[in-house]
Amino acid sequence: MNNRLQNSVWQKLLKHYQKISMLHLRDLFRDDPKRFDKFSLQASHIFVDYSKNRITQETLNLLIQLAQSVQLKEKIEAMFKGAHINTSENRAALHTALRNQSDQPLLLDGLDIMPQIRNSLLKMRRFVEDLRCGNWRGFTQKSITDVVNIGVGGSDLGTKMATHALAFYADHKPRCHFVSNVDAAQIMSTLKSLDPETTLFIIASKSFTSIETITNANTAKTWLLKTFHDPKAIQNHFVAISAHPEKAIDFGIHAANVFEFWDYVGGRYSLWSAIGLPIALAIGMDSFEQMLKGAFEMDQHFRLTDFSQNAPVLLALLSIWYRNFFNTASHAIIPYSHDLRFLPDYLQQLEMESNGKSVQLDGAQVNEKTADVTWGGVGINGQHAFHQLLHQGTDFIPIDFIVAVNSLNPVGNHHELLLTNCLAQSEALLCGKTFEEAYKELIEQNYTQEEAEKLAPHKVMPGNRPSNTLVLEKLTPESLGALIALYEHKTFVQGVIWNIDSFDQWGVELGKKLAKNMINDLGKQKTITHHDSSTTGLLNYYRTHTTTEV
Ligand code: F6P
Repeated sequence: MNNRLQNSVWQKLLKHYQKISMLHLRDLFRDDPKRFDKFSLQASHIFVDYSKNRITQETLNLLIQLAQSVQLKEKIEAMFKGAHINTSENRAALHTALRNQSDQPLLLDGLDIMPQIRNSLLKMRRFVEDLRCGNWRGFTQKSITDVVNIGVGGSDLGTKMATHALAFYADHKPRCHFVSNVDAAQIMSTLKSLDPETTLFIIASKSFTSIETITNANTAKTWLLKTFHDPKAIQNHFVAISAHPEKAIDFGIHAANVFEFWDYVGGRYSLWSAIGLPIALAIGMDSFEQMLKGAFEMDQHFRLTDFSQNAPVLLALLSIWYRNFFNTASHAIIPYSHDLRFLPDYLQQLEMESNGKSVQLDGAQVNEKTADVTWGGVGINGQHAFHQLLHQGTDFIPIDFIVAVNSLNPVGNHHELLLTNCLAQSEALLCGKTFEEAYKELIEQNYTQEEAEKLAPHKVMPGNRPSNTLVLEKLTPESLGALIALYEHKTFVQGVIWNIDSFDQWGVELGKKLAKNMINDLGKQKTITHHDSSTTGLLNYYRTHTTTEV
């Protein structure tokens, strides 16, 4: 927002907050038996219950007015139509084009980009089908059994999350592995169980310069050539995905084995492009395209639905409500789904790299707090770890619970237990437990009055802790596509309200540059002196204590 003080809706929201912050969710539900019906909606494959939020209809009306006051509708259109909304890099953000199912041309700077996208999908399909049916052969003519994706950030998190999320649909032809960390522990432990004759490496890097990825790729190359002693083997065992194909070719990968994507697709929005190759290899190209379809359906919902029924818009506005008015510092993503266990990690990059910004589009300081901390973990396990703080900690943390109605593994009563635990958590957070209730319970358990009075405060739970529940009918490629697109658009809407560039990531550059300089310094024999005393001290400590022994 250019200037919140001049935004009259923001001022109204501030006033409204004074009133609302005193209300308890218990009372809001008691006073309105239709609250669930009013504050829930179906958005393509996702049912969203947002009734357990600290809002009234007036709150929603004001938040929607806020969205209108920043021309959100026009900005959504601008994104879909390829305007250069990534202003600091002067680029479009057209990840939606990658899943576009319409047969209309999509012009970017006057050029229809749909043919290049369709060609890329076709190239992926040929490769995926070849490899999955065993036609793609290794250097010794054996079929590929294992694929290792080497990438980091957006070239790892989304594709890793989705490959695991859709494991039920995979037939393990081939098995997929993911290496992202430059800590050799990861690649060495992955390679330990693999056979060079039947392993294929995907080097995934938009820039093809990320030092972690290039270092891991070189280690993989050395490992492979240790067996084959012939650089020609690279052609059978390495493919690359990049927006800079020439760099992948320089690395030694055959031009025909390089899959391209483009500058108008941000790294953390790229799983819909060839970056999604591991997903397609795991579940097949048809299922991958189902995922694109699910995302497209969510795109349509986002683009065409009135804000009052628009899931990404409402979820974004609710986040703004807590972050900017209640001053919350984090929000949690808790999928009650083992398959979705990497979703919080993926969303962490999506939300924090997109909206962790302090300047507006024109370079002026932002007026309000932008992204808070996205964190989370898989449901059930969290109940035995961090939920204590969610229930009784001094801060409240808004939560997104995610659960499917139907299990992919209907065994005994596992799924009923999973589902009811999810709902019980959001109910407990909503209602809490008063002193009187805790006291009464203790008396009923035969505690003396004195004991009950002493113990009851420890059992009090404030409640009034908000959550959304996102319900999938079933976890499928299509519903996963819709879920991811929902969060992408939510992130975009927040960025529009804060008037920031959600598609750049300048903040990660300085650390990369400093690490590069340091590694050069370590190579020199001189004592290091030119950093702050802590960094200098640590570098010299490393030098004097490093040993080649294992
Ligand atoms: O972490 C910074 C970042 O630039 C991310 O935005 C990106 O997803 C990641 O590095 C990987 O970049 P690349 O795909 O170019 O290797």
